[in-house]
Amino acid sequence: MLKRNPQHSGVLSGYGQSYVRKGDLERTLDDFARAHHQSEHGRCAQLHRADRENSGRTPPEVHLSHAEKPNPLPALVPITPQDGARMRVLVTGGLGFIGTHTVKALLLRGHEARVLDNLDPQIHTDDGARRRLDPRVECIIGDVRNPDDVALALRDIDAVVHLAALTGVGQSMYEMRHYIDVNCSGTATLLDGIVRQGIRSRRFVLASSRAVYGEGAYACDQHGEIRVTKRDPVVLARGVFAPRCPACGAPVHAVPTREDVLPQAASVYALTKLQQEQQVGLAADTLGLPAVVLRYFNVYGSQQSLSNPYTGIATIFFARARAGRAIELYEGGEPSRDFVHVSDVVAANIAALEISHVPKANAAATTATFNVGSGVSTSVRRLAEVLSAAAGQAAPLVTTTMYRRGDVYACYADTTSARRALGFTARVSLEEGMREFVRWAASQRCGDHSERGAAELSRLGLLTNAIVPALVGDPQ
Ligand SMILES: NC(=O)c1ccc[n+]([C@@H]2O[C@H](COP(=O)([O-])OP(=O)(O)OC[C@H]3O[C@@H](n4cnc5c(N)ncnc54)[C@H](O)[C@@H]3O)[C@@H](O)[C@H]2O)c1
Ligand SMILES: [Zn+2]
Repeated sequence: MLKRNPQHSGVLSGYGQSYVRKGDLERTLDDFARAHHQSEHGRCAQLHRADRENSGRTPPEVHLSHAEKPNPLPALVPITPQDGARMRVLVTGGLGFIGTHTVKALLLRGHEARVLDNLDPQIHTDDGARRRLDPRVECIIGDVRNPDDVALALRDIDAVVHLAALTGVGQSMYEMRHYIDVNCSGTATLLDGIVRQGIRSRRFVLASSRAVYGEGAYACDQHGEIRVTKRDPVVLARGVFAPRCPACGAPVHAVPTREDVLPQAASVYALTKLQQEQQVGLAADTLGLPAVVLRYFNVYGSQQSLSNPYTGIATIFFARARAGRAIELYEGGEPSRDFVHVSDVVAANIAALEISHVPKANAAATTATFNVGSGVSTSVRRLAEVLSAAAGQAAPLVTTTMYRRGDVYACYADTTSARRALGFTARVSLEEGMREFVRWAASQRCGDHSERGAAELSRLGLLTNAIVPALVGDPQ
């Protein structure tokens, strides 16, 4: 058993719960990440050269200032768990953004890792993610919907982190069948496989999303905390984006969203994440699967797919800034989100795997379900400003009255339950995290694919411009 780190408040005792700040131990995740970054940077430079030589074209030069020193990001302690605590963990979607970081952290913690990933071409333009994988990691290129691939992947596995999914909110509205197939059938296939092999899984961690809430929690001065309904398309079309109190019509403000807020999926993607939660919840209740559901908020950081035009606001804004294009702020840039750095999300994944008992989020919840967010509400405009500052170049921000169907106006996390049960607290500020993201993204080769994604959504009527811009005090 590891001992509590006495220097750090908010740390649980028991194995697997000790997070320390950089400097507390000789080798930290930070050092690990830096070494990885350097080797990757080297490889990238080679790719750039090879590309220039082959094509005769020069990729756009990037002039982004970033500090020479690594960011003082918090770190997981590298440990070697005693035999009883060591787990062989299957990470589905382990070649993706969050998966890559999770696999590294598992190794650092002394666990074994196996990956099941189909290298979805929308995320992966080549098999670089597989080539970069630590040789200690077993990698199965296969599909989470394929029972044979799943059976192979589950062999002798102690715990599962289920990340494999399609993640585009807008895209899910016209690729419904595909999203339901991958996200829902994929989860069902995985659960079938676990049941067939006998539930030897010591833990099953599901990557869910804040999307299940739809609009987050709001408060009205007169009526206190309220739940707003889905935004009315007619009202949106008039350029009135901020929700109002359903009881009195007064303006409302966002407050932290707890796990017991009634889910109100606003997109097919959200529906699939809710369905995944329900499948896993049922398996936990009826079959005793020791499951923990983590609702990630908006995750950002290095290794995020720069080629996927449908997800990742930070990657989309970065690509536009790098291409010298203006950053378009939909809905006036006023909508807000909870941006959480990937290192914090990984810490939550590891905690959910390593805690000795599956905790309850609250008395009402049957499945252990926790928000994984920063707990901070940040407007999209502010995000663009922080990103520009981190990149060292002020990209022009263009305020528009464009809006996407299926988007919500505001949602940020109440992390009280995650803190109590998992010892989880997000530690990376937006400024620190954005510097880490920009430093990595600047070393990558990528074009701006955002217009392709926007054009597709526009063609299908999923991205539209409000006809009448909002007037101050416009009644709903
Ligand atoms: N990134 C975020 O902001 C965020 C927020 C909330 C929830 N999540 C959830 O976290 C999980 C991981 O997200 P991410 O951002 O790392 O996404 P990602 O797209 O970077 O990674 C997903 C990985 O899954 C793989 N995959 C897709 N379909 C598959 C299939 N049928 N079989 C096997 N592998 C398949 C892809 O190749 C990819 O490597 C997802 O479940 C997502 O819904 C992410
Ligand atoms: Zn009211």
